[in-house]
Amino acid sequence: MNIKRMPGFTRRFFLKSSAAVFAGAFTGSFVMHEANAVAFKEFHLRAGRSPITLVPAPAGATNAWCFNGSVPGPEIRVRQGERIRVNVKNGLNEETTVHWHGMRVPNAMDGVPHLTQAPIRSGGTFTYEFDALDAGTFWYHPHQRSFEQVGRGLYGPLIVEEPNPIRVDRDLTWVLDDWRLTKGGQISEDFGNLHDMSHNGRIGNTVTINGQVPDTLYVRRGERIRLRLINAANARIFGIDFGTHKPVIVAIDGQPVAPHIPEDGLLVLGPAMRMDVVIDMVGDVNQRYSLTDPFYQGLEYRLVDLVYADTPLRNRIPDWDMQLSANPLPEPDLNDAERHEVTFNGGMMGGMVMQEMGGSMGHEPMGAMGSMRGMMHSGKIWFINGVAAEGHIMEPMLTLRHGQSHIISMTNATAWHHPIHFHGHSFRVISRNGNPTAHKEWQDTVLMVPKERVEIAFVADNPGDWMFHCHILEHQTAGMMGVIRVNQSGERT
Ligand code: C2O
Ligand code: CU
Repeated sequence: MNIKRMPGFTRRFFLKSSAAVFAGAFTGSFVMHEANAVAFKEFHLRAGRSPITLVPAPAGATNAWCFNGSVPGPEIRVRQGERIRVNVKNGLNEETTVHWHGMRVPNAMDGVPHLTQAPIRSGGTFTYEFDALDAGTFWYHPHQRSFEQVGRGLYGPLIVEEPNPIRVDRDLTWVLDDWRLTKGGQISEDFGNLHDMSHNGRIGNTVTINGQVPDTLYVRRGERIRLRLINAANARIFGIDFGTHKPVIVAIDGQPVAPHIPEDGLLVLGPAMRMDVVIDMVGDVNQRYSLTDPFYQGLEYRLVDLVYADTPLRNRIPDWDMQLSANPLPEPDLNDAERHEVTFNGGMMGGMVMQEMGGSMGHEPMGAMGSMRGMMHSGKIWFINGVAAEGHIMEPMLTLRHGQSHIISMTNATAWHHPIHFHGHSFRVISRNGNPTAHKEWQDTVLMVPKERVEIAFVADNPGDWMFHCHILEHQTAGMMGVIRVNQSGERT
């Protein structure tokens, strides 16, 4: 446990950053920081209950929990290298925090209750401040009871602009979500039920883009759009089929990647993942084209229609460069990396619960099979290296030497998909089932299919205790999370 070092850090932090700030702290305004003349952009978020218009009339308002009264919460948009300050006020009736998903922030700013900060009590406030090291598409959400807080609408986009962005006609952000609504258009109250927790999480019945049931995106022939997709759903994996259109992936989880078209044509985003795609509007004037999502068999649906205006914007496809410049990530040295094994177990398998009770982490992980009743009794359903976490207070499952390259070899021994997220770092996905990946993509959340083995590599350059967990929020709360410690010695302390 390391909460003991938190209060000191927090106190110093506040002393430094509140030294002498000019008056006039407006949302998104530049404020001069007198001590060292560093400018920062300041934002205000208030988590609270609010009615929102999610489904079109005649349905009435949906009672959500959200930031500043809207779903998604306000877009935080800064330039790479800028400093961000966010004042968070908790207007909920329970504790909360805000985590800056994918941002490589100092540990004390990571927003994990008990691990990196005391939770923000109801009515309380907390100020986050950090630098936007990497350009790209990120997002923010609470880390306290996130299966319910995120599930009720607490999240928002965080966009860090490149100093030299690629040329496009329009830059759009789509925050995708999936809601389980009642017939009356209210959020179904069955959060954290045993079935969702032991299967594929809380899959809903209503998909939204930017908090609206989507209908139409108006486009023009010849137009080039950069679309930033953010999957803010608790559990739904999106697999978007663009039909006639060919999206080119230019960034994954905020990090640039060699521009490429997805292999099987589907753009697949696990929960918490982001993708920046460049789409050329090659359709005909006055035509309508549907984007569909066939990811779950039997649950295919039409996501949205692209509707073309009657005049083209231009008559040929632009030949502008799509390659984004790399972010300042430390390159892992694969020849000098320390290796670690991580195995995920648990969940339902053939009507039985797979329970990994011991700490076996061999190459052929076999969990003991238990009964549904046993699982209900313990509440522990998912295991990382044999351990099911309860809450955010735990001993680290791995301790990594600071400044060293590491390879984590992960085995999904379950029958389910898991988007695995590591805080405070981005990692390269170097292999899947022993085959090197084509793009060695940098990610912060990697979707593992059932039985898959995935290797990730990174330099542990950010000291502190960091969460490592499944981003299907029902899996996370039912045990599928751990802590990875990065420290000077690499010793367990
Ligand atoms: Cu998006 Cu640990 O979180
Ligand atoms: Cu999972």
